[in-house]
Amino acid sequence: MGITKKSFGKTASLYEITNAKGTKIAVTDFGATLVNVFVADRNGKVKDVVLGYDSAEEYAAHDLYFGATIGRNGNRIDDASFNINGTVYKLAKNDGENNLHSGPDGFEQRMWNAVCAESENAVRFELTSPDGDEGYPGNMNVSVTYTLTEDNGLEISYDAVSDKDTVANMTNHSYFNLAGHESGEAVAHRLWLNADGFTPVRQIGLIPTGEITPVKGTPLDFTTMQTVGDRIESDYPQMVFAGGYDHNFALNVKGGTMEKIATLTAPDDSLSMDVFTDCVGVQFYSGNFIKPHAGKNGASYVRRGGLCLETQYFPNSINQPKFASPLLKAGDRYCTKTVYKFY
Ligand code: GAL
Repeated sequence: MGITKKSFGKTASLYEITNAKGTKIAVTDFGATLVNVFVADRNGKVKDVVLGYDSAEEYAAHDLYFGATIGRNGNRIDDASFNINGTVYKLAKNDGENNLHSGPDGFEQRMWNAVCAESENAVRFELTSPDGDEGYPGNMNVSVTYTLTEDNGLEISYDAVSDKDTVANMTNHSYFNLAGHESGEAVAHRLWLNADGFTPVRQIGLIPTGEITPVKGTPLDFTTMQTVGDRIESDYPQMVFAGGYDHNFALNVKGGTMEKIATLTAPDDSLSMDVFTDCVGVQFYSGNFIKPHAGKNGASYVRRGGLCLETQYFPNSINQPKFASPLLKAGDRYCTKTVYKFY
């Protein structure tokens, strides 16, 4: 049990948290990023189940957001702009005409200040995001806390306060492969999602149309456990637009209280992960944009080699009055939590 600290490239550090079961997670202050999750499967074999790199410099050099904390806003914002209280705020157009994951210098590129709570098996990362940061209004104090519980829960809690009305919609962008990060394509995993609907997108730019479409009868129906790869090449237009799974699911929840929203199971059934969150949406992204390249420990990563379950408000919700709003009022507290539990 406990926390150890090592260096992780030239200036960053890696914090390893181990619980009494021997499960170990590692997080770095570069990007407040989740780097490793070492967990034993049913046969006692220990696997590292998230994709990543061996140093902060490698994280800085890639744009796949492995394990990253995304902020202030996860996912896409139409035309890279929004209006709060009559003022139009412009963001970087880093995804065609739109903004993706806040821009090229998002929270995943920052050095965060780490505070350890050894007794709680937790590391808290703190960041001061100044007024105008990446185009967003308000000085914002942000923290992200990673906790490893004794029952193999990896809890990620987010907290933020701003001195102006702003957007707060943070997420974690881990790519999970429960067969081990080095084991190649992840499409033989099985997935259950607690979502009867999803937010269909426009072909160009993948911005939600504003509707919520029932998943029933579509390849996006994961209301019963389904193998990810079975329908991934479907000619259903929404699947073609995204090149696989890359959709926001409207969860069967009210939001604000912790609910189980997903279960992911390794192809050989030896390890599963439940996802709990108080968020209203989850982006299920099947790693369609991963190009073959080297990852942690000499691993060869491939297209669809990891699966992301990014809990969040719906994409472009700051511009879409039909969706729950990610607006954070000045002085209010943004507080949200997601737990990935392994068994
Ligand atoms: C996901 C997004 C994908 C892709 C990816 C980063 O969250 O939904 O479309 O941009 O991030 O490569």
